[in-house]
Amino acid sequence: MSDETEGRRRFQTVRGTNDTLPDDQPYWDWVRAAAQSVAHRFGFKRIDTPVFEETALFVRTVGEGTDIVEKEMYTFTDRGDDLLTLRPEGTAPVCRAYIQHGMHTLPQPVRAFYITPIFRYERPQSGRLRQHNQFGIEAIGDPNPEIDAEVIHVLWSLFQELGLTNLTLHVNSIGDGDCRPQFLQSLRDYYSTRLDDVCEDCHTRYEKNALRLLDCKEERCQPVIAGAPTPADSLCDECAKHFTRLRSLLELWEIPYEITPRLVRGLDYYTRTVFEVHPAVEGSQTALGAGGRYDGLIEQLGGAPTPGVGFGSGIERIIMNLREAGLTPPESLSPRTDLYIVYLGESAHGHALRLAAELRHAGISVSLPTGSRSLRAQLRSAGAAHARYALIIGDDEVAKGTAALRDLDTSEQNDVSLDAEAIGAAITA
Ligand code: HAM
Repeated sequence: MSDETEGRRRFQTVRGTNDTLPDDQPYWDWVRAAAQSVAHRFGFKRIDTPVFEETALFVRTVGEGTDIVEKEMYTFTDRGDDLLTLRPEGTAPVCRAYIQHGMHTLPQPVRAFYITPIFRYERPQSGRLRQHNQFGIEAIGDPNPEIDAEVIHVLWSLFQELGLTNLTLHVNSIGDGDCRPQFLQSLRDYYSTRLDDVCEDCHTRYEKNALRLLDCKEERCQPVIAGAPTPADSLCDECAKHFTRLRSLLELWEIPYEITPRLVRGLDYYTRTVFEVHPAVEGSQTALGAGGRYDGLIEQLGGAPTPGVGFGSGIERIIMNLREAGLTPPESLSPRTDLYIVYLGESAHGHALRLAAELRHAGISVSLPTGSRSLRAQLRSAGAAHARYALIIGDDEVAKGTAALRDLDTSEQNDVSLDAEAIGAAITA
């Protein structure tokens, strides 16, 4: 590109990122409000952590052999030579905060939720972005399956509250430090005779991170995955009991689920419970929310052994599903302008400006045109602004101390006194 062309180039959002325009905001307000309300109902309080952290925080927890760490992190060296990464997921930062702020001294589990941007250098496609936003919760400090069930209940309640139906909850248990090694051995034994049938990446997974073999999305690996041993085959008694109890709680709370024996998830920190929620019709990238238990994570970060469980749910994907299902935000989230002031003449303009200030101060939303425009143009703007009322002031009205208040839905028109209090009362009546 020549310097001249470059100088005139129009900028666009970076690939895989989106603008959220004013007309899209009601969907966002709706989902965020529902998420906060559900989180509060289950006792979760908001936590915010910085957008960037030390790179090592994610390498150590998400895991060296994962796609996130190997291929997807936005990592940079700052001017002080520190190696930093834009948050590629929300769990490790919350666990870092738990340790840093001595939150083990609070009543356990600590229940925290976040609504935050997440950055992953992925191949963008519908519902898969390089900057997306997650609503997530973490319950830290309780090993019991009641908490796993509660965390799943939060996610399920959010979807119910928004009216999303036709979703499938997949659950599995991938064991813990006691039984996982035995499972990984049986998985490697199985793959050792089938390496010719799987993709290049699976060869690396076989060497470095065998559990990830079950998560490969390559077509040619699917038949091998279909015959592979599952974590459930090797669960120790404690893990099996934990999983059975979780399932009975889901049944008690009438949360429908499917056991998906080869569900393993794309991050390394999980132990025991893992789960994902998918729409009924979907590709492989459309989980609406997902999570699990991570009993070793806090210890990996230098804290005392502390169990935890949580989920993350992509807000863009939720909104995509709401739109596809024809679900729209409540009207109260697209507030209308209460009053559009239309004026003709110098003196009317002065009154319009004064009234606008007084009415806005009283909490009424007001628009008024700038400059001088015809009455017809101003009334058209009032309609386009989707205002509830128009107040029409001409110099004659000013002389009489009145104005015409028109209900723009019914076209009914009445005179009101040219006084902020009277106009406010007429509008809010
Ligand atoms: P995750 O499965 O990587 O888990 O992401 C959670 C959710 O974020 C996904 O189910 C999806 O809805 C959304 N999501 C992920 N990547 C993208 C993307 N590129 N574009 C749009 N949406 C996306 C985690 O991040 C874990 N930290 C969840 C967790 C919390 N586990 C325990 N606590």
